Amino acid sequence: MADNLVTVAYLGATILFILSLGGLSHPESSRRGNLYGIVGMTIAVLATVSGPRVLAAGLPWIVAALVAGGSVGLYAAKKVQMTQMPELVAIMHSLVGLAACLVGFASYVDTSIVFTGAEKTIHEVEIYLGILIGAVTFSGSVIAFGKLSARIGGKPVLLPGRHWLNLAGLLGVIWFGARFLQAHDVQDGLVPLIVMTVIALLFGVHMVMAIGGADMPVVVSMLNSYSGWAAAATGFMLSNDLLIVTGALVGSSGAILSYIMCRAMNRNFVSVIAGGFGTGEGAAAAAGAQPAGEVTAISAAETAELLRGASNVVIVPGYGMAVAQAQHAVYEITKQLREQDVNVRFGIHPVAGRMPGHMNVLLAEARVPYDIVLEMDEINGDFPDTDVAMVIGANDIVNPAAQEDPTSPIAGMPVLEVWKAKTSVVMKRSMASGYAGVDNPLFYKDNNRMLFGDAKKMLDEVLAALKG
Ligand code: TAP
Repeated sequence: MADNLVTVAYLGATILFILSLGGLSHPESSRRGNLYGIVGMTIAVLATVSGPRVLAAGLPWIVAALVAGGSVGLYAAKKVQMTQMPELVAIMHSLVGLAACLVGFASYVDTSIVFTGAEKTIHEVEIYLGILIGAVTFSGSVIAFGKLSARIGGKPVLLPGRHWLNLAGLLGVIWFGARFLQAHDVQDGLVPLIVMTVIALLFGVHMVMAIGGADMPVVVSMLNSYSGWAAAATGFMLSNDLLIVTGALVGSSGAILSYIMCRAMNRNFVSVIAGGFGTGEGAAAAAGAQPAGEVTAISAAETAELLRGASNVVIVPGYGMAVAQAQHAVYEITKQLREQDVNVRFGIHPVAGRMPGHMNVLLAEARVPYDIVLEMDEINGDFPDTDVAMVIGANDIVNPAAQEDPTSPIAGMPVLEVWKAKTSVVMKRSMASGYAGVDNPLFYKDNNRMLFGDAKKMLDEVLAALKG
């Protein structure tokens, strides 16, 4: 394919990626958004591999790489559970980071293109920054993958003087950067480049190890952003405009998402990145806190009775609904209650589940109408007029300690105020804590009932009782 045709194809792909991001911003248009993304990526890959620069490298290599990468992608897409999505995303980010590092080293040792003067300096700065961001993204994402998949403990690991260690690392990176730019030849420059890579890898590990509990979603979206900037840096190294634009789109949308999540959790972005959530006085107080009082259990039949007698019901789904795959049972109950003129709505917390939009995706899959699925801010004021708030496999997102206990590790996180409803029913299997690992005083409130059991099983029983 001629160079100008490649440019036209890249332009088309860029427009499709922008349309894709626009489509993904709402559940109703998200399928269309995905389709734009798939078409855009297909055009981008075909234009790249059939372009003059890549074909010259040898078709068999390209085909082998496409088949290997495509097969791994297909296998992962088929095998991965919805609840494992964040860990898959994390490990995929790590590959972007690794690719940026490898491309960086390859560009540096490649002697086929010789740069001189300012061009040489710019090229070397691109390489240095690309490898720096790539290495932090790679090791940080591997640790995030380990934490999200419970291969590594979720508790934050806080080294003494960790902020000083980070500062020393930063100064080291600047110093070795200066040495790299002053290097006379490739041999001379490789040493500072390798040392910086090691520092960046250690920094990535240290940064994510220090973050724990409920701050992990922000870290995943922040690594998403880093992977975008790493791709953009790779684009600069390879002089590939499409990679630069795509990387910038991913980098900026990831940064915006991190910001939105921080706001939703009332967390300061810098303090999240500095790490240490779930430690210190707050955690000590939470760990020391004993369950306050007795809980009142309720049966599925009694829950059905409560729902039947209600005029306004708000359902709050959480991670447990995803684990139990209870969304279809939730839909059936909603349908049944709406036929009996009960006003049923859903309250969605921005970090319910394990990834952004997790609950919206599941409810859309079960065909729950979009107009009754409301965001936290839209529904929180309505709880005092709600007869029954039904919490399905959620915990942290309905924890009143966030408002009532300033020593709680989740103090300040906005939550769905289900305890303000006349009655709240919490459906979960045990008294175990949620992702943030903190006790939940909601369970002991007088107007709260606990429906113990697997969410799908319990909802099926409630549905049977409602129909009976
Ligand atoms: P969690 O606080 O994690 O609570 C989920 C609850 O579901 C658990 O307490 C568990 O209790 C229950 N559960 C598990 N399996 C169940 C089943 N089969 N049937 C019934 N219940 C079941 O979830 P949440 O309230 O959705 O809050 C989300 C948390 O995850 C927040 O802390 C958030 O910061 C974090 N997080 C979010 C994201 C994103 S982006 N959404 C990403 C990573 C982490 P039992 O074991 O007693 O059943």
